[in-house]
Amino acid sequence: MLCFNTIHDTRQQLYAWRMAGERIVFVPTMGNLHRGHLRLVEHARQQGQRVVVSIFVNPMQFNDKDDFAAYPNTLEQDSVKLQAVGVDALFLPSVEMIYPDGHQNNCDVIVPGLSDILCGAHRPGHFVGVATVVAKLFNIVQADVAVFGEKDFQQLMVIRRMVNALCFPVEVKGVPTERESDGLAMSSRNGYLSAEERQRAPLLYKVLEQVKSQLKSGGDDISAIEAQAQQVLQDGGFRAEYFSVRSAQDLALVEANTQDLVIVAAAWLGKARLIDNIRLNLG
Ligand code: PAJ
Repeated sequence: MLCFNTIHDTRQQLYAWRMAGERIVFVPTMGNLHRGHLRLVEHARQQGQRVVVSIFVNPMQFNDKDDFAAYPNTLEQDSVKLQAVGVDALFLPSVEMIYPDGHQNNCDVIVPGLSDILCGAHRPGHFVGVATVVAKLFNIVQADVAVFGEKDFQQLMVIRRMVNALCFPVEVKGVPTERESDGLAMSSRNGYLSAEERQRAPLLYKVLEQVKSQLKSGGDDISAIEAQAQQVLQDGGFRAEYFSVRSAQDLALVEANTQDLVIVAAAWLGKARLIDNIRLNLG
């Protein structure tokens, strides 16, 4: 696996691969890799000849400075894992390289509307940070395909909309959420859970599944269903930020005829902010 620390070196290698007619697939990450990230790489392998992964903890998408400072750096283990799953190149830019004029004096990418609801309402500026850094990384890597996890459903939608709106010549692929055997969605933030909280954490996915069954069996009082789900989470020791049934097409509130649904949730358990979602088609 080749490792690049500069934009110039990355571009040079990618240019050579592109000229050789090889299809390039890109998986952006913030490191501290787990099986969910590796699943994205496996998916990427099937999409082209060369897989490029980036590890960059993006200060611009953290609305909380302490959260940024505490974000785990496990580069050595990450490299071993990436090498084992056959990644061709690892791109490790510095903050100065991505934000040469500081991220306050940057040129931002704003995806309006979608960025301001759900996670965006609770983490102001988060999706501007995500869209901006992903746009920069796309311009550096110039991949044919980029792979993202459906675990971060709203992020995937923001990126798809950015790609369509700004005509990025890249195909965006979503990969289903990788879970622990008890249903908990894998996340770098699960490491913030105490042993006791870890036991309780799968409740989030259980409640999502319960709500899915309720909707499938004809439940139509969405507000009551959401309120009840939030109560179950609260009783289980969570502090819910939101629990919401939305259109899977645009995350809009559901109407009587909306069939393609996603149930999205974000909740704190101790020091960990967990997010998860589940899809449901009533058609
Ligand atoms: P990060 O949290 O490191 O996640 C990198 C990618 O892994 C994202 O596409 C995310 O959705 C996916 N992922 C995380 N957990 C997953 C799971 N359990 N199953 C499947 N996929 C999973 O998301 C980011 O980094 C950043 O916002 C980034 C896009 C890199 C921009 O900075």
